[in-house]
Amino acid sequence: MGKYNFDEPVGRRGTASVKWDEFESDALPMWVADMDFKAAPAILDALRKRLDHGVFGYELVPQSYYDAVSSWFSRRHGWKGITREHLIYTTGVIAAYSACIKAMSRPGDNVIVQTPCYNAFFPAIRNNGCRDLHNPLVYKEGRYSIDFEDLERKAADPKTTVLLLCNPHNPAGRVWTREELVRIGEICVRNGVFVIADEIHCELTYPGHDYTPFATLPEEIVRHSASCISPTKAFNIAGIQIANIFAADPDVLRRIDRAINDNECCDVNVFGCTALEAAYDQSEDWLDELRAYLYENYLTVKRFLSKQLPWVTALPLEGTYLMWLDCRAALHEGEALEGFSARFADHLRYNAKLVLSTGTIYGPEAEGFERLNIACPRAMILEGMKRLKQGFETY
Ligand SMILES: Cc1ncc(COP(=O)(O)O)c(C=O)c1O
Repeated sequence: MGKYNFDEPVGRRGTASVKWDEFESDALPMWVADMDFKAAPAILDALRKRLDHGVFGYELVPQSYYDAVSSWFSRRHGWKGITREHLIYTTGVIAAYSACIKAMSRPGDNVIVQTPCYNAFFPAIRNNGCRDLHNPLVYKEGRYSIDFEDLERKAADPKTTVLLLCNPHNPAGRVWTREELVRIGEICVRNGVFVIADEIHCELTYPGHDYTPFATLPEEIVRHSASCISPTKAFNIAGIQIANIFAADPDVLRRIDRAINDNECCDVNVFGCTALEAAYDQSEDWLDELRAYLYENYLTVKRFLSKQLPWVTALPLEGTYLMWLDCRAALHEGEALEGFSARFADHLRYNAKLVLSTGTIYGPEAEGFERLNIACPRAMILEGMKRLKQGFETY
């Protein structure tokens, strides 16, 4: 056993948790993207110390905050040279990419998304007066890839100004390779399309699939991009809400800074800064153990499905703790595919007492799929699998 005990159950019901308190109290929640583990001890200690100070006035984000970000990405991911001049802090990654869209597009423009994609991409695009233009991922032989010809066509539309990229990809589970990212970057540069890279899941990758920061691609591509990064997913501090935007080009950064100010989300809370520093500076060994634990959870689900539910296809999980399940085998003969994701998710919720995320909230292309969050103690994974099987058998 490692130093940290991820098997330990932590009761979350009745703690005003979105994941646990939104639905029926006997339903097992394996949906929204947070984890059922306590944060790393170093983060808890740092927060306690900050709390004990007792004064929570406005935060002047310290140099040590920027140093923590810079040092982390340099030593962990080979992304060198981040300084405070490249960064804008804000209250979360949604606030971050929304401001980037506002800065880099005009109302009426197209923003490309690679569907199925994170559901909160859609409102951010529409709230900025833009239109989401889908470059659907290609699902072939149980794996997703990018349709580059379609991307080129959509990037060439004069109304297209932004691509909102997700790497690692939620919910497809892909970690884009450097080659794929360069190809995306080249298409976007060629067509004057700005790339916003949402890299919130970047720490959670599995053997053989390393995260490539978009900002480590060739310079010309990087100048046409901004990256949104945060420790909140990997260190399970999403409710504390802190994120950073990186841009290499000072003009781009100025535009984004203006948008962050226009949106009035340019202040962060004192706990966010404290938690970020403790995560990046003192919690690396915790993260490594967590990654191994999550990978074992993934293998546990795969083993269960292949033995007990072989007709469900779980896509290979290269990154994130969000598994993507092709459930179309549950369709009855003659049943319409349209609306199936929602019907099946409802059935699981009400009859098998298991809450998954309905596939089609990630785009109409996802009909037939559901998303499963595996960031919980292993015993809960096994319980979830039991309920999933029951759900399949009773549909
Ligand atoms: C791809 C992606 N981006 C952003 C977010 C939300 O980020 P935040 O809570 O920092 O706004 C999530 C949460 O699940 C996500 O999966």
